[in-house]
Amino acid sequence: MTDLNLALGAMYFGTRVDEATSFTLLDRFVDAGGSIVDTADCYAFWSDPSGAGGQSESVIGRWLARQPSRRESVYLSTKTGAEPVPGKDRREGLAAVRVRAGIEASLRRLGTDRVDIYWAHLEDREVVLDEVVETFAELADDGRAIRLGMSNHPAWRVERARQIAAGSGSTPFSAMQLSFSYVQPRPLAPVEGQDHRFGMATAEALDYVVANPDMWMWAYSPLLRGSYARPDRPFAEAYDHPGTTRRLAVLGEVAEEIGVTRNQVVLAWLVGGQPPITPIVGVSSVDQLDEAMAGASIVLTDDQRQRLDAAV
Ligand SMILES: NC(=O)c1ccc[n+]([C@@H]2O[C@H](COP(=O)([O-])OP(=O)(O)OC[C@H]3O[C@@H](n4cnc5c(N)ncnc54)[C@H](OP(=O)(O)O)[C@@H]3O)[C@@H](O)[C@H]2O)c1
Repeated sequence: MTDLNLALGAMYFGTRVDEATSFTLLDRFVDAGGSIVDTADCYAFWSDPSGAGGQSESVIGRWLARQPSRRESVYLSTKTGAEPVPGKDRREGLAAVRVRAGIEASLRRLGTDRVDIYWAHLEDREVVLDEVVETFAELADDGRAIRLGMSNHPAWRVERARQIAAGSGSTPFSAMQLSFSYVQPRPLAPVEGQDHRFGMATAEALDYVVANPDMWMWAYSPLLRGSYARPDRPFAEAYDHPGTTRRLAVLGEVAEEIGVTRNQVVLAWLVGGQPPITPIVGVSSVDQLDEAMAGASIVLTDDQRQRLDAAV
């Protein structure tokens, strides 16, 4: 993995972002010093007429196949469990049989023998946690997943899973992936576009990661789908409160001082905070990618960070 603490989100590769553009973005990202590429086996079922996912992993697989030596420069992240079951009002979930089938299908589409991090995409309370822990640990043991993470899980479930792993001496989950950005939604308000009950990072989740140095926090949708930059993408209603007004004022000040965009300050704030967070950016053009990579490389001064943190 390179030093750039930024993941390229490939959610729309192969659907909204066509294959040629996806290849260009992946090439640019790796050539400019990036390495972490995030996808999931279900991307992007909602954007494909088939209603099934796999397009994103397949595009990444075809990109890797063109230059197999790239595999060593890329830190591959994928997830399982969130694909809807056709005709049923539920997701595939985390039963052992599903996870084993999920990793096989992901490795086949990606054209690789291992992923660098494998995520339980969302909670499945129908499956006992011991089974989830054991199944993912099995993948770590046989080398198909180097590291394990939980996305869209509350901190207490991550902690419980880690206790189970500690009890059995198996490889623990050691990463969390949640939605997080600089502005914060009103507590308990439903956030438009967020359909995971425990998908938003909380102060408790951040504290859990700080207190457990082997844990790694990733933030999805850090740019709130373009809301910091584009009047045609207003912030979701849950962000409509005085704290957002105060945060946006300071964000604008700091961006102007440094001579960068608000998006870039948001990424710098995430990367350099406590805990350091890996933002996963969704981009559809090289300009957006370059902006994000430059943003994640900015180091804020203590004074800038203190002002950004103090605006609540
Ligand atoms: N674990 C999970 O459950 C979960 C859920 C969601 C996402 N994710 C991961 O997180 C990644 C990012 O998610 P996201 O797409 O929601 O992220 P995002 O970073 O909040 O939004 C990305 C969108 O913002 C716009 N944008 C990006 N840079 C911009 C710029 N410089 N100026 C103006 N607009 C800009 C683009 O819209 P246009 O393309 O329309 O220009 C882009 O598609 C995904 O690819 C996926 O890997 C994970």
